[in-house]
Amino acid sequence: MNRPAHTAAPDKVPPGDNGSAGRVTIVTGGASGMGLSVCHRLAASGDRVAVFDLDGVAAERAADELRSAGGTAMAFEVDVTDRGLIDEAVGKVRAAWGPVQVLVTSAGVFAFEPFTEISTDSWQRILDVNLNGTFHCIQSVIQDMIESGWGRIVTISSSSAQRGSPKMVHYTASKGAVIAMTKALAREYAQSGITVNTIPPSGIDTPMSRVSQAAGHLPDNATMARAIPVGYLGSGEDIAAACVFLCSEEARFITGQVLGVNGGAVI
Ligand SMILES: NC(=O)c1ccc[n+]([C@@H]2O[C@H](COP(=O)([O-])OP(=O)(O)OC[C@H]3O[C@@H](n4cnc5c(N)ncnc54)[C@H](O)[C@@H]3O)[C@@H](O)[C@H]2O)c1
Repeated sequence: MNRPAHTAAPDKVPPGDNGSAGRVTIVTGGASGMGLSVCHRLAASGDRVAVFDLDGVAAERAADELRSAGGTAMAFEVDVTDRGLIDEAVGKVRAAWGPVQVLVTSAGVFAFEPFTEISTDSWQRILDVNLNGTFHCIQSVIQDMIESGWGRIVTISSSSAQRGSPKMVHYTASKGAVIAMTKALAREYAQSGITVNTIPPSGIDTPMSRVSQAAGHLPDNATMARAIPVGYLGSGEDIAAACVFLCSEEARFITGQVLGVNGGAVI
């Protein structure tokens, strides 16, 4: 790359020959929806992908799919609220492939509940998975990135945190905190060669959104599409495409950013 000297980032080198060959990557919630699409795209671009998911069977299935497509993948049944399980799985990834270089946190849960009916347990569960889970996973891998002088972290937040979604106060609070955490981490590690960005999806057709539609919390796809400026719903692949870019060496100057992938929704 021909860049003027004053734009050089000394001691910050991407892993591998071309910045992506064989990178060690973990995707949480990688067994379904957006996480699964992210796994496919990153594996296709050469990353070795560890699929972390609460659903161990689905994680194995995802890793099989990645290997069948020519990728390198392992599956781990991991609950992102359990720091011991996370550290254990990260340790196995490190032992097999080396230090973790890329982390995408897509594991998440939602609920639609009027504010006055949110139980303490429900509040705690949503915060535990969406916020604390993101914290645990990032803290478990970041030392690898610090020592390598290179890393890429992408958190999956939500447009509901930007716009405020009724009956989702707990979910919205958890995802708002993920956005804030992403920005703070980006600045804390800005000089360590690590970028930290977040994608707040909106209008994406996934198993999670279909569950919400089936329960009557979201309108059907045709109605949703009419409310999206581009006129159609996004897919996991749209999230994956943005994610692959944010995880690339080319995105080295992009950190602490909130990249809306939402078909032009005005948030
Ligand atoms: N679908 C949408 O429209 C939408 C919109 C905004 C944000 N999001 C966010 O995007 C992310 C991905 O959502 P999706 O639509 O692909 O959902 P999904 O339900 O298809 O996938 C989520 C995955 O996370 C896993 N998971 C749940 N709890 C876990 C835990 N404790 N530990 C490990 N894994 C766990 C699930 O097993 C599942 O495989 C979530 O964080 C979600 O909040 C989704």
